[in-house]
Amino acid sequence: MHKRNRTLAWAFNQFVNRSLQGWAYRNDNGLAKPTRIIFCVTLRCNIKCQQCAIWRMPKTEELTTSEWKKVITDLRSWVGPCRIQLAGGETFMRRDITDIIDFATRQGVLTGVVTNGTMIDPPMAQKIVNSGLGYIHVSVDGIKPETHDEIRGIPGLHARTMAAVNALLDAGRGSGMSISLATVINRKNMNELVDLVHLVDRKGLDGIIFNPLGPTIDSDPDWYKKTDLWFDDLCVMAAWSESPT
Ligand SMILES: C[S@@+](CC[C@H](N)C(=O)[O-])C[C@H]1O[C@@H](n2cnc3c(N)ncnc32)[C@H](O)[C@@H]1O
Ligand code: SF4
Repeated sequence: MHKRNRTLAWAFNQFVNRSLQGWAYRNDNGLAKPTRIIFCVTLRCNIKCQQCAIWRMPKTEELTTSEWKKVITDLRSWVGPCRIQLAGGETFMRRDITDIIDFATRQGVLTGVVTNGTMIDPPMAQKIVNSGLGYIHVSVDGIKPETHDEIRGIPGLHARTMAAVNALLDAGRGSGMSISLATVINRKNMNELVDLVHLVDRKGLDGIIFNPLGPTIDSDPDWYKKTDLWFDDLCVMAAWSESPT
């Protein structure tokens, strides 16, 4: 199926299921299908970001390539045209990830990935585009290399991440794959957010997702007191967000 037709079929199915969801929930009749689907394909990661709890988790057994393909086939026949986000951990730690995406594309399933970009060089970027991936969000936590590197724990990481973004832009030109940045707003980067938006504009990227810093999987209600990424004074953040740029 052509990419545009896949997108139209997905959008129509989303509309139907979103319309049904409230009513089906109230009447407990199970008529509505999921509209937001995220597969955690791995908990492995090659870096240790300050905001993230995933790299601290014990590693679990993962589904094999053919098991994921069966999940996709079953899901497609139950939900109809749908979109899945392949998440982790670092999704590209799985060597079979483009194979899984390619399979989903051929089933008429749209796909998206969020990545730290560390494993994307020009040949990998080309493989990603060839797999038919719909969107990719590359995590960038600062415009200043030192901010990104400090939050993400590896000197020189910012340069590698931006090289991945450039490789994706080169390979993705004209393919219809959407390429955006993803940034977790925190105390260390709150003054760099506007410059990140300008970077997106300069590079001709499709957008930037700003995520609020959250506790991820940690259910400790005092989690924010235990990270130096939390804001010293939220009033400063409020004043900053209201100031003219
Ligand atoms: C869990 S990561 C998985 C994908 C990939 N490893 C990456 O870093 O992009 C997905 C996104 O969640 C963000 N994230 C991690 N911990 C977070 C937290 N405590 N609050 C909000 N976002 C968080 C990451 O920065 C990243 O943009
Ligand atoms: S945010 Fe992504 S790259 Fe960073 S530790 Fe978590 S899973 Fe790994």
